[in-house]
Amino acid sequence: MTGRTVLVTGGTGGIGKATATGLAILGARVAITGRDRARAEAAAAEIRTRSGALVDVFVADLSSQSEVRRLAAAVLAELPRIDVLVNNVGGYWDTRHLTADGLERTFALNHLAPFLLTHLLLDRLEDSAPARVVTVSSSAQASGRIDFGDLQGEQSYSGAAAYSQSKLANLLFSYELARRVGSGHITANALHPGVVSTSFGAEDPSGVQRMVVPFLRPFMRSAAKGAMTSIHLASAPALSRVTGGFFTNGRPGRSSVRSYDEVAAGRLWGISEELVAG
Ligand SMILES: NC(=O)c1ccc[n+]([C@@H]2O[C@H](COP(=O)([O-])OP(=O)(O)OC[C@H]3O[C@@H](n4cnc5c(N)ncnc54)[C@H](OP(=O)(O)O)[C@@H]3O)[C@@H](O)[C@H]2O)c1
Repeated sequence: MTGRTVLVTGGTGGIGKATATGLAILGARVAITGRDRARAEAAAAEIRTRSGALVDVFVADLSSQSEVRRLAAAVLAELPRIDVLVNNVGGYWDTRHLTADGLERTFALNHLAPFLLTHLLLDRLEDSAPARVVTVSSSAQASGRIDFGDLQGEQSYSGAAAYSQSKLANLLFSYELARRVGSGHITANALHPGVVSTSFGAEDPSGVQRMVVPFLRPFMRSAAKGAMTSIHLASAPALSRVTGGFFTNGRPGRSSVRSYDEVAAGRLWGISEELVAG
């Protein structure tokens, strides 16, 4: 990855920090994002120590569209090239929360933020081509349904349904992006990282997460293992022309039937464009 620049959203902890670390060790210049300057600088210092790489830090709350726009502007000013964008940030909330834009937080952070950030950085990715967009989905995509009548859980909200919807949306977005940038200059792939021991869901956990996850932690993947598929998609020379795929454990596989619905993908794309139109 020497000479390549990778932007990893949510690089302060969990799978994102392990992804940034792994890619830095492979020689990439990495840029990480987080909401808190001190936490992000501490993560960057750790990645520099472990890799010797150049690590840039960007601070933004990606649940806010103005912050995504501010982040993109700062990234474009600081990074002359972006060879890989890893859309890693995602979260789970057991109860319904609204963002600064008045949008449901799971949908806004997990789907609209990578949708908007990717759009804002697309020209720089194109200029740096061959480039890659890697989006972290989840096996939860399998139970996901896009509820076009109630995308933001206004009529009824469940954390699990909102999360699985957002992770299906990640796939619809990634596959549609692959079709739209189909020149082969930019690839778009998505992945499930495995069940990984991180801070995932800690802000507003479900009862199951509170009661069961502490007992499951010893059996969960480390963040370093959870990052392996992201690192593979970001760096493997064999994948330079592979696009529109879904990977688990470093291998391509099928995602849910609903994720390949091109009509739904186009519809979600259009709605997302309207929702991020600033
Ligand atoms: N853990 C699993 O078992 C698992 C399984 C399947 C899929 N995934 C997916 O993997 C991805 C990473 O999850 P993780 O387990 O590593 O989660 P995590 O430990 O909670 O880490 C989340 C990262 O995102 C950042 N972040 C959270 N909210 C943010 C916001 N509003 N704006 C900007 N940054 C924000 C955090 O940074 P700060 O807190 O410093 O801002 C942190 O760096 C997610 O997309 C998740 O859906 C995880």
